[in-house]
Amino acid sequence: MAQPQQSEGAEKPPLRVGMVGYAFMGAAHSQGWRTVGRVFDLPRQPVLSAICGRDPAAVRAAAERHGWAAAETDWRALIARDDVDLVDICTPGDSHAEIAVAALAAGKHVLCEKPLANTVEEAAVMAQAAEEAYGRGKLAMVGFNYRRLPATALARNMVAEGRLGKLRHVRVTYLQDWLGDPEFPLTWRLRKEHAGSGSLGDLGAHIIDLAQYLAGERLAGVSALTETFVRERPLPVGATSGLSAVTSAGTGQVTVDDAALFTGRFTSGALASFEATRYATGRKNALRIELNGERGSLAFDLERLNELSYHDGTEPAAHAGFRRILVTEPDHPYLDAWWPPGHGLGYEHSFVHQARDLVHAVAEGRRPEPSFTDGLQIQRVLAAVEESAEKNSVYTPIAV
Ligand SMILES: NC(=O)c1ccc[n+]([C@@H]2O[C@H](COP(=O)([O-])OP(=O)(O)OC[C@H]3O[C@@H](n4cnc5c(N)ncnc54)[C@H](O)[C@@H]3O)[C@@H](O)[C@H]2O)c1
Repeated sequence: MAQPQQSEGAEKPPLRVGMVGYAFMGAAHSQGWRTVGRVFDLPRQPVLSAICGRDPAAVRAAAERHGWAAAETDWRALIARDDVDLVDICTPGDSHAEIAVAALAAGKHVLCEKPLANTVEEAAVMAQAAEEAYGRGKLAMVGFNYRRLPATALARNMVAEGRLGKLRHVRVTYLQDWLGDPEFPLTWRLRKEHAGSGSLGDLGAHIIDLAQYLAGERLAGVSALTETFVRERPLPVGATSGLSAVTSAGTGQVTVDDAALFTGRFTSGALASFEATRYATGRKNALRIELNGERGSLAFDLERLNELSYHDGTEPAAHAGFRRILVTEPDHPYLDAWWPPGHGLGYEHSFVHQARDLVHAVAEGRRPEPSFTDGLQIQRVLAAVEESAEKNSVYTPIAV
């Protein structure tokens, strides 16, 4: 790993972070903030000031484990702290809007996990608050971390260079299987009031963002099917974290989709297909995307995240074919700071890169991507998918 070059004794201005939520994403983002300044040469040095959760003992343990200097049990107290410049929101979707809007009003920068909110209305309020805060020099970004992998960032560069030519198809799936067991408990991810939607908002939001980011254009409309396969599940007992929970007596209703399939049309006329499910038995975190253009194709699989497949359609057919690019060279995105070629990265590095990009944006006063306005547009796609599914898959334009 290359050492960050810092001039001897030079003090960088700190960027003091306060985080809300300490479970799955709390741990992943902590890793990002803890690591980023030790790997990349940053204009500001992230400081892990305080972490917030509702259980006093658990949040103190999380602070100790993940390297946070202080712990709070009320997010309002966290955003009121003088030693917090940036609030990182790692809670379920039902609290994103309230925390983000309050943090921006308190003069903090904000990083908010995806999907931006549970409804278009909430997302619109957040985007408006972010716009106003930008006028006061405060930035807001959504945590679509899969943009920050070297292979996806390289794919974006290759599309932007015109290597695919005019885009024809985008084919994308995000497949998991942790709901396959009907006895898996009714965690917040299965309740509309907490999660907004099911596989759609959880996994679909990621692939909508990645598809639009890689294509470099937006969806114009969608046609969708959704289904809830298991409508009643055991209630969870005690704290749940990420994709794990323990069952108690009693059951409750599942109020979100279990799977969402939809087709879409990009503004250029390119066609897209999407599949998001947590019932794809044997598939653990299979986010796969393929883009076909008139000059070539690109394909990426999150379960082989150091690789990008590329077919150059301009080569003579006799020896053309998909080639595997091992995305570990120092001139690949993000990799100048990491290990020698061939010594691959993993899932957690996307959060390090997310922190890196946000620190640069803050230091330069530059609007980060994806912005809350981008998050709002994705929320509109999610709403169009739900509307189409309710209306027997009728083609539904995305509101602008
Ligand atoms: N980018 C990704 O790859 C990715 C992966 C998983 C989850 N997510 C997103 O991250 C967010 C959190 O998901 P998760 O899997 O970490 O959930 P989780 O259940 O593991 O953790 C949620 C945390 O939020 C805390 N919390 C909930 N309400 C709170 C409140 N009012 N005040 C303070 N703390 C509160 C809980 O105590 C817990 O620490 C969701 O928006 C989810 O969609 C993103």
